[in-house]
Amino acid sequence: TTAADQLSRSALLFLSRQSNLKDVATRLKPFRELAARFIAGETLEEAVDAVKALTQRGLMASFDHLNEAVRTPEETRDEVRHYQRLLARIDQVGVKANVSMKLTQCGLLFDKGLALQNARAVVADAAARGSFVRVDMEESAVTQATLDIVRELHAEFGEPHVGAVLQSYLRRTEADAKALCAERIRIRIRLCKGAYLERPEVAFPDKRDVDANFVRCMRILLDSGVYHGIATHDERMIDATLEHATRQGLPRGAFEFQMLYGIRRDLQERLVKEGHPVRVYVPYGKHWYPYFMRRLAERPANLWFVMRNLMKG
Ligand code: FDA
Repeated sequence: TTAADQLSRSALLFLSRQSNLKDVATRLKPFRELAARFIAGETLEEAVDAVKALTQRGLMASFDHLNEAVRTPEETRDEVRHYQRLLARIDQVGVKANVSMKLTQCGLLFDKGLALQNARAVVADAAARGSFVRVDMEESAVTQATLDIVRELHAEFGEPHVGAVLQSYLRRTEADAKALCAERIRIRIRLCKGAYLERPEVAFPDKRDVDANFVRCMRILLDSGVYHGIATHDERMIDATLEHATRQGLPRGAFEFQMLYGIRRDLQERLVKEGHPVRVYVPYGKHWYPYFMRRLAERPANLWFVMRNLMKG
């Protein structure tokens, strides 16, 4: 990555947090058009349609209702009700899908007890339906609180119903991977690189270190015998995973690959054809701005597409 890329990445991640910019940006047509590539729609039914189409291509899904704008206890309860409706709808439609959820959506930023209570309500519902809740990982300020809550829910509901996410850009992640995979804990993990703006004290600033740590953590996960998710579009990470799985004699289906909606569909399909389980993360909802900005930050080239079309006007 060039210095210009690094700079645009930081700038875009900074802008992703500016909610006043959101209203202006989301009204611009080229911006909305590019967003439609990464967001499955603003409503639950649009997301259901997107997941049906994925199912036909042999892909599994994880629905994610986007809402990082939750500020009050009442809003957190709306999110819980939304997730319960979503779980019921998944059952009804019969698609191979689970759900992903953020704890800030449950109130983590202002009331940890409430966040646990809300998350418990969603996981209880999922467990009753034989489904699974993946608790997304957010900024490093909430990493510990998020893992604490996942461990508590995991102790209550068990391995098949709730799991965590670890980010290889964090310096602490290797130790977390070992702890969560320990014999007496065994929590399902989604391993990704990490998408937020972090300080060098907590996260590796150099992409090479992030990638090297991804490979180290991937090996810890695969060697644990727990069913994990390897979440990346990076072919080098995928090749390293396949190589390690072969070396360890793991059968296909011992873990799954995960990718984001709208990114590297060719690679998603290739892995399915080779017999690997692949799950696509399907974000939807009205509050798509911060999610979309993180996707732009991963590939600033996407931004030039918006700019060019804005100029054409
Ligand atoms: P990398 O960024 O090195 O990209 C590798 C290649 O993938 C690129 O060369 C390009 O071809 C393609 N690519 C990647 N991003 C693209 C984009 N935006 N547009 C177009 N092409 C792109 N993060 C987090 O902090 N918490 C979380 O809970 C999750 N959850 C999650 C779930 C799933 C299923 C995935 C796949 C990812 C996440 N992430 C996440 C995001 C993750 O941390 C990371 O930011 C992105 O996946 C991009 O990193 P890659 O591993 O793809 O590698």
